[in-house]
Amino acid sequence: MPAEGWVSLRAALWLLGLCAVLAPVQCSPDRPSWRYISTEVVIPRKELLRFGGQRHVIHMRRKRLFWPGYLMMTQDDQGVLQTDHPFVPEDCYYFGYLEEIPFSTVTINTCYGGLQGYMKLDDLAYEISPLKHSRKFEHTLSQMVADASTMGPMPRLGYEEERDPLLSPANITAAPRMSSKLYMFHEALMKGLCQSTNAFYRTANNVSETVQYMVDVGNIIDAVYRGLETRFYISVMHIYNVRDPVSTASLRPRSAYFQFYSRTLFPAFHPHTAVVFSTAEPPDGVYVPGLYSFCRSGGLVLVFWAGPTPWARSS
Ligand SMILES: *[C@@H]1O[C@H](CO)[C@@H](O)[C@H](O)[C@H]1NC(C)=O
Ligand SMILES: *[C@@H]1O[C@H](CO)[C@@H](O)[C@H](O)[C@H]1NC(C)=O
Repeated sequence: MPAEGWVSLRAALWLLGLCAVLAPVQCSPDRPSWRYISTEVVIPRKELLRFGGQRHVIHMRRKRLFWPGYLMMTQDDQGVLQTDHPFVPEDCYYFGYLEEIPFSTVTINTCYGGLQGYMKLDDLAYEISPLKHSRKFEHTLSQMVADASTMGPMPRLGYEEERDPLLSPANITAAPRMSSKLYMFHEALMKGLCQSTNAFYRTANNVSETVQYMVDVGNIIDAVYRGLETRFYISVMHIYNVRDPVSTASLRPRSAYFQFYSRTLFPAFHPHTAVVFSTAEPPDGVYVPGLYSFCRSGGLVLVFWAGPTPWARSS
């Protein structure tokens, strides 16, 4: 149970998603870490959820996260990519809001029994997860905040920052370069190619778990982009479970991997976006979120770094 302590990487990606994906230039170099500050046990009943002493009505719609005919590929003994069929739940992703709470968002999956996901309302952010072995459908609902000790003044998480990109049509003229490009070139639908480097795969050493992680992050990316009236779909997943096709030590423009992506993967699959899951340290001393993005003609590439404890800043 996430009682106190650093939030999971996924939670942090979700919390920082907008900052990192849409406005990297605007993000403070001294990015905050996030902590769970309180946890309560809740029992969702249909669309009702009581927490913080109040009853909330959740409105959710199922969403599609996979492009029709999406491809899942792992490697054979020789490292050659081949179609694989690990178990991937497909019809259990939801997006919604809390009734009577303007600008609230709910991003949840029900793939593994119970509700797993995130809620944001007013200035508050929550993670919800099923309580293991509960026979009463109990869940933990943990509130998350930016950790004040690792940052300067608390950034305001409220309306002005959140509402614009997340829930209203983006103000394209005011939006940062990245999002206006996205908006213009990729229109409303984005097909994403997700890749796990060999090192990232080895953190779990299990294809199903790696896929599950990548899909969960895909779900978060979609939630983030919905604010720009853009949908994100997973169309191809590559898991380098035997070895990397080329070095993934660097993923920067002009690196071996970047060239491999633009010369081999991009022409073969024509994704709008590529997402690389990597353990390699991001460049330029950006230690904390380990998430950066850059644009090129072949599409936007997002890199998620999942080091051992990427969110806990060692002092
Ligand atoms: C968009 O942002 C610009 C610059 O901040 C502002 O002048 C303009 O009024 C905004 N437009 C809308 C529709 O909010
Ligand atoms: C991989 O993970 C899944 C789900 O956690 C588990 O059921 C499976 O047994 C694991 N496979 C191996 C080879 O460890």
